[in-house]
Amino acid sequence: MARKVILKAKGPVKVGEKWICACGLAKGWQEAECQPFCDGSHTKTRPEEDGKIYSYDAEGNVISTEEVYS
Ligand code: FES
Repeated sequence: MARKVILKAKGPVKVGEKWICACGLAKGWQEAECQPFCDGSHTKTRPEEDGKIYSYDAEGNVISTEEVYS
C-alpha cells in the first residue's frame, strides 16, 4: 500500500534537546528503522514556491511539481 503525505514544514521541531525532522527529507525518514532527526536536508525545500506541491525521490531530488488550486 502506498500513501501520499503532504508536509509543509521547511525546518525541524525542537523536542527537548533534539531537533526532529518535520520536512520529511531527512535520510532514513521513510525507513522502518527511521531515526527522525534533522540532518539538514530541509535546505532542499528553500526553492519551493507557494501554490505548488513538490514530490521528492528517496535521494531527496524533486521529481515533480503540481500547481495547487484552492
Ligand atoms: S527538518 Fe527535515 S531534514 Fe531538517
